[in-house]
Amino acid sequence: MEKEADNNPVRMTEALIAWYEANKRSMPWREDPAPYHVYVSEIMLQQTRVDTVRAYYLRFMEALPDVFSLASCPEDRLLKLWEGLGYYSRVHNMQKAARIIVSDFGGEFPAEYEILKKLPGIGAYTASAVSSIAFHRPEPVVDGNVLRVVSRITGSRENIDLQETKSSMRAQLKSVMTESGADPSAFNQALMELGALVCLPNGEPHCADCPVRTYCSAYLEGTIGEIPVRKPKITRKKAEITAFLIVCGNSMALVKNSGKSLLSGLYELPHYEGPADKGRIAAYLDRLGLKDVKTRRLSDGRHIFTHIEWELHGIEVLTREKPEGLDFYSPEDLESRIAVPEA
Ligand code: ADE
Repeated sequence: MEKEADNNPVRMTEALIAWYEANKRSMPWREDPAPYHVYVSEIMLQQTRVDTVRAYYLRFMEALPDVFSLASCPEDRLLKLWEGLGYYSRVHNMQKAARIIVSDFGGEFPAEYEILKKLPGIGAYTASAVSSIAFHRPEPVVDGNVLRVVSRITGSRENIDLQETKSSMRAQLKSVMTESGADPSAFNQALMELGALVCLPNGEPHCADCPVRTYCSAYLEGTIGEIPVRKPKITRKKAEITAFLIVCGNSMALVKNSGKSLLSGLYELPHYEGPADKGRIAAYLDRLGLKDVKTRRLSDGRHIFTHIEWELHGIEVLTREKPEGLDFYSPEDLESRIAVPEA
């Protein structure tokens, strides 16, 4: 006979938090969970792994130690600090939010979930993280790890990609948090940590090491492999990009992206959208004012964003003259102040 899951919230949260305190990974922002530290780390952790974030976080805090320095940082310097993390709208929004915190809140982060959520780039997840981790307010964080853990514990087969599933799990977590009296900071981070270290999404989760397996319906019913339920993956649009590595002496041409896309404010190789055929290449170089140049095809590449996939063609162009209207940058510029997207 299958065992029944224990569903006493006090015992369950105690077991979860005791496990967290004994097993949590060391992270620099955990040593001093001030609101600004929690905020910056949580924004970085969206879409980026903990191990990558550590070094970025330490460098960012050294350069911009408080919300005032973030609010007043020049764009190029800010993008340089973010270079390689991708999803640059995150850092643009961070600066907008920092400016509002300085102008409307005297530089003090608000503690309330509803107020935080009104700031640019702060959604339910980040508002809950700051409110709970920095201010110990009972606001559940609901990210992919938490949705998986909660679906398994409760045996839920609701599609976790649906907003209504997220809202209903948030409400359930809020009542567990309130009923059990658990510290919201430890409770939320313990669920995320359990999802990252034990209750894994692909391959076998480490159920034998799980502190809450006796509370877990999916474990007790043998349905771990079927839960959580997800909707089919999104299909990405494809685009073909031909990019030019235009070299003059030891410098190369870059153009600043002035659009409203993800890459706004970053410096990119001059490029057009379309295939690398001879006629189009010649017309493009002509339009840039490049004459008497040597060109060579570079190897092709691919870059995947959330909603779009680029098929990249590279053309190296060697020129003796720098045409007007095209700016060239040295390796030192690239090293110290110019931020270039990953692709
Ligand atoms: N992932 C994102 N934020 C986290 C946190 N505060 N603890 C553990 N994992 C996380």
